[in-house]
Amino acid sequence: MTASFSLERNPNPASEEARAEIFANPGFGDFFSDHMVSIEWNGDYRTGGEWGEAKVIPYGPLSLDPASSVLHYGQEIFEGLKAYRHADGSVWTFRPEKNAERFNRSARRMALPELPPELFIESIKQLIAVDAQWIPTGEGEAFYLRPFQIATEKFLGVRPTRQARFMVIGSPVGNYFGTPSPVDIWLSTNYSRAAEGGTGFAKCGGNYAGGMVAQIEAENNGCKQVIFTDKNHGHAIEELGGMNVFFVFGPENKIVTPELTGTILEGVTRDSILQLARDRGMTVEERRVTLDEWKDGVASRSITEVFACGTAAVIQPIGKLKAKGFEIPNAAGEGTNGEITMAIREELVGIQTGLREDKYGWLTQLI
Ligand code: COI
Repeated sequence: MTASFSLERNPNPASEEARAEIFANPGFGDFFSDHMVSIEWNGDYRTGGEWGEAKVIPYGPLSLDPASSVLHYGQEIFEGLKAYRHADGSVWTFRPEKNAERFNRSARRMALPELPPELFIESIKQLIAVDAQWIPTGEGEAFYLRPFQIATEKFLGVRPTRQARFMVIGSPVGNYFGTPSPVDIWLSTNYSRAAEGGTGFAKCGGNYAGGMVAQIEAENNGCKQVIFTDKNHGHAIEELGGMNVFFVFGPENKIVTPELTGTILEGVTRDSILQLARDRGMTVEERRVTLDEWKDGVASRSITEVFACGTAAVIQPIGKLKAKGFEIPNAAGEGTNGEITMAIREELVGIQTGLREDKYGWLTQLI
């Protein structure tokens, strides 16, 4: 299916000079391109509905009724993926079908309408077709695409919305943490990110909103991110505020990540790393890792590296884990990134940016 998209060009696009200034220091999620995609849905969640006209329109504020249910009950989902410009000028994105599938899993959990995956991917192509000049090409840079869907019905009763809007916006970005050096993270013991039967596996705003207060605690303790555990399973490590986590068991040539229990986000980067680790001849395990195993593993040098991963963060070495009353040192050594972490990062980024062979056909050409 190729839906036809209407295009209303931005009458005041950013000048080349303004873009150059942004590209000099893109940061993460601070600047947005000239256009956005918008498609409205009307219907009933139980019996179905229809997606309306697909539009590419100037980027700008939305006009929403103050009674729109997203503003009250948080009926909302989102995705994150990136577009990369290769050396020959072509533009590609990474495993967008995985994001489209996850978007629909999130939609089902949040009682929002599913979007045909072809329309999800076509929306990205259409945005890139008008805003390709917004893709930065420096080290660690890309154009971050943020598809999302919100409940727009003017209604305060608590039931699934009968009107929704799907949108895609895009942002030129650099390194999420501003640096590829290890970041210290804070263990949240007061707060949980998710619970069994909850929305942990869905990419919905509420999961992130609930983590903000723990993020403040992290920052107050000199850390860049917070990590959550499952207190019902011996403080099994779950994930960071917005990223999955991996443990490298160097002497065993093994990599371990928390298994998908329904409370953890099924990361596309996570899944890709599992494959790249297998390709390196590593043993791969998806299982519960408790806080005690982390502590003991670092002390005994069986765990030699720990890293976070996600589309936004790519692969980020973790330094210290700090918590109330104790600390676990950087498994790779003070100030060290970790050899395996960086080798997997280089391979992944190499595939994404066209410098390494894409042997699994993970890339989709946008232009
Ligand atoms: C991503 O990695 O794309 C995320 O969504 C994480 C965060 C920026 C919310």
